[in-house]
Amino acid sequence: MNTSVLQGKKIVVGVTGGIAVYKAVDVVSKLRKAGAEVHVMMTREATEFVTELTFREISGQPVAQDMWAKVQQYNVEHIALANLADLMLIVPATANILAKAAQGIADDLVTTTLLATKAPLFFAPAMNTNMLEHPATQHNLTLLRERGAHIIEPATGHLACGVEGKGRLPEPAVIVEAVLDYFAEAKSLQGKKVLVTAGGTEEPLDPVRFLGNRSTGRMGYAIAEAAARRGAETILVTGPTGLDLPVGVRAIKVRSAREMEQAVLEEYDSTDVVIKAAAVADYRPKETSSQKIKKSDGELTLTLVRNPDILYELGQKKKHQLLVGFAAETNDLEDYAKKKLEKKNLDFIVANDVSAKDAGFGTDTNRVQIFYRDGREESQPLMSKTKLAGLILDRVKEHLNEMYEGIDLFSKG
Ligand code: PMT
Repeated sequence: MNTSVLQGKKIVVGVTGGIAVYKAVDVVSKLRKAGAEVHVMMTREATEFVTELTFREISGQPVAQDMWAKVQQYNVEHIALANLADLMLIVPATANILAKAAQGIADDLVTTTLLATKAPLFFAPAMNTNMLEHPATQHNLTLLRERGAHIIEPATGHLACGVEGKGRLPEPAVIVEAVLDYFAEAKSLQGKKVLVTAGGTEEPLDPVRFLGNRSTGRMGYAIAEAAARRGAETILVTGPTGLDLPVGVRAIKVRSAREMEQAVLEEYDSTDVVIKAAAVADYRPKETSSQKIKKSDGELTLTLVRNPDILYELGQKKKHQLLVGFAAETNDLEDYAKKKLEKKNLDFIVANDVSAKDAGFGTDTNRVQIFYRDGREESQPLMSKTKLAGLILDRVKEHLNEMYEGIDLFSKG
């Protein structure tokens, strides 16, 4: 367990009212021992199980519990905690707190702080099996996951209510490990320059019309956002989209395939990883009219010419770079994807069946197969594009590790 990643990190632990509160004491103790500054806030129900004094002694910090307590120093407490947190952990998380957090209810210090923070959120649910399996609780967990919250899976075993089943709070070491993994991952691409392309290109016909495609940019933006979160210097070369730019990326906005080609090539030499999620037009109109094309009675014939294949070019010029392509297919996915992997000289290719309703263009989810240069392949189930972005970057990290392990730093010449 690499505990050094917690040095100096500020973790706000929200303790809610369940029998597993006693384990939260150990979680706080372990986080503090690992170097984190831990601030505890408690719901009124939690104080029925363990007193505030226990957490104050274990954390070495005052414990926040009352929105309306007499002000000691003028600092709006829920906002102060919300702002200082590098990470917020709710342990144990009752069905009630999950429901409130999912719905944005803010009726006490813990829920108000949850609503006010921009820190990553971790919930460690603990409850009776029936409560956990209830569709309402499952729906709330789905909502929280979709918003990016991390849910630490409850364990199975003997529950305080006397039954065997799922719903136990995981052991404190497991909870602390999840927090450690998060901070370790947050630095996993530090020192690397990652270039991501996203969105579709537009090939102009005249000043008001273009040939385009259905890419919304969601897949590429999710990857760029995740790369920046993992500490990479992130360049996002993006076609026109309706999306907000992710925090922490340098964006280069382009329209046509040739503009994208130029932007990518300018960055390429100093880039470590390229991930080409953009849908690039293979053809463009031979002529672009400088004036709006007027309709006439007859047919209009367009002549299209080939656009550069940017990824192929990158494959030809490849030196130290790791190249990841996407393959958007409607049929023979595996066959076409493997051919692109080979022809474009990629390290791996992420293939999506864009004829599926829940995958490919314009969806929040994707279902992919990944094909590697060494012949390995993997099929992934349907998942959010956010989750897939993280998975692709995990594979990138594994490849980078292998590449650097392969370099003999001591050989001469
Ligand atoms: O943006 P979303 O709505 O979220 O949709 C996501 C997506 C479907 C666009 C994405 O998941 C995806 O599949 N992107 C690749 C689309 C594509 O152009 O695939 P392709 O199979 O035609 O191209 C293969 C690879 O070569 C791609 O990495 C592409 O970026 C690259 N290419 C293609 C043509 C070209 N002229 N230059 C290129 O660099």
